[in-house]
Amino acid sequence: MRALCHIDTIQEGASKGFELDGVHLFVVRHQGQVYAYRNQCPHLGIQLEWQDDQFLDADGCLIQCAMHGALFLIDNGECISGPCTGQSLKTIKCEVKAGEINIEWPLATN
Ligand code: FES
Repeated sequence: MRALCHIDTIQEGASKGFELDGVHLFVVRHQGQVYAYRNQCPHLGIQLEWQDDQFLDADGCLIQCAMHGALFLIDNGECISGPCTGQSLKTIKCEVKAGEINIEWPLATN
């Protein structure tokens, strides 16, 4: 595991992007849980965000790809709308320990 940031760095209902050793990923805090995914849309393999740290739709209920509008469930990364419906973002295991968000590292090559 590797420490990413303090939990307070990301507000409840918000998201934040990171780059670690050239790997792009992002974290979402949603309904008291923390989720981490690789920042890579399953449609074209590009990064999802349209502005720094903006990975969610207008309601903050779904993860959104800025390129073609694919929508993903926050809690498991499944695409439920858009050109990659049925595919999923790559999950990164994470946990909060002593106020720090930790992610699996190195990442599994899934
Ligand atoms: S690249 Fe994400 S929806 Fe097309």
